[in-house]
Amino acid sequence: MKQVLIDRYGTPWEVARCAEVPDVGAPGPDEVVFDVLAFPINPADMWFCKGSYRLKPPLPATPGAECVGRVIAVGAAVHHVKKGDLVINLQRENWAQRRRVKGDDAIPLPAGIDLRQAAMVRINPPTAQLMLSDFVDLKAGDWVIQNVANSAVGRLLIVLAKQRGLHTVNVVRRADLADELKALGADIVIVDGDDLAARVAVVTGDAAIRLGVEAIGGAATGRIVDCVATGATVVHYGSMSGEDPKVARSNFIYRGVHLTGFMLGRGLAKRSPGKIREIYADLAAQVMAGKLHAPVDTVYPIEKIKEALAHADKGGRNGKILVAPNSAI
Ligand SMILES: NC(=O)c1ccc[n+]([C@@H]2O[C@H](COP(=O)([O-])OP(=O)(O)OC[C@H]3O[C@@H](n4cnc5c(N)ncnc54)[C@H](OP(=O)(O)O)[C@@H]3O)[C@@H](O)[C@H]2O)c1
Repeated sequence: MKQVLIDRYGTPWEVARCAEVPDVGAPGPDEVVFDVLAFPINPADMWFCKGSYRLKPPLPATPGAECVGRVIAVGAAVHHVKKGDLVINLQRENWAQRRRVKGDDAIPLPAGIDLRQAAMVRINPPTAQLMLSDFVDLKAGDWVIQNVANSAVGRLLIVLAKQRGLHTVNVVRRADLADELKALGADIVIVDGDDLAARVAVVTGDAAIRLGVEAIGGAATGRIVDCVATGATVVHYGSMSGEDPKVARSNFIYRGVHLTGFMLGRGLAKRSPGKIREIYADLAAQVMAGKLHAPVDTVYPIEKIKEALAHADKGGRNGKILVAPNSAI
């Protein structure tokens, strides 16, 4: 079977290769074996290849934080999934044609779900959902501000916020995205810049923004913090700039703004396995109903992993880069 391996950390499309490796074998009693049908290339996968992600395993290593698969065999002690079911995997190393995992890590998805969307259910939808629920007790009519609003997480957050009657200010780096994001439910779409807080105050009529959600880092974190109300919370959940947050101390001292961080693993770890399955069942149902959607730019075969990674690194894409390791989807 084929599997993506990196033999050293560095430029993703230089260090990753599609290798021929032994099959994963039959499942143990508490295991599940599935064929990987599709996986996305997320920013965290790029950092994994570069060696700048929080996890840096010994080499050779296989990237891949998420995927969708079809079960081909289950161990005798596994009862919640069966052969033929679609599953997502709570564990990593998914850039391969086949995976053998603990049964508890295989979360079933409804039959008939769009495979491209299913490949992206594991990480970004619960990230957007939990960031809206775990930090501030938001009520309908409250305001939320986020940057990287055109990212997969950002778009999902717009839709989930709208469902809850929340208003969103969506900070982007390309003005031409405004109509698209407003069609999803964005109230305000605004281009990032030094005078962001003043412009946001004007367009929201000085609304008290209770939650900020931020994934650029550096001075961009500070610009989001400057926009929120006294006592509000800003959640830093990624660093597209590669920089640590830079925030004016007056926000903490004079205005009591809280700056905290989110990591999906920590968010899910607070919940029981049953609750986690419930969260994914709800998100999958929303995908099936067409309510949650992440645009896809291109789907590559696994043999073209280098081209896929180089494409994923380019800005201005119209959605995610996916890889279909078995047959085309
Ligand atoms: N903490 C967690 O548990 C968790 C979970 C999921 C995701 N994340 C983080 O969430 C962020 C978004 O992930 P995603 O998968 O949704 O991303 P994505 O769909 O690949 O989109 C990346 C976004 O980042 C923007 N961007 C790229 N470089 C930038 C820069 N230097 N300055 C400003 N904007 C920049 C892009 O803008 P354009 O649209 O203009 O190209 C695009 O909107 C990432 O940082 C990721 O690590 C964190």
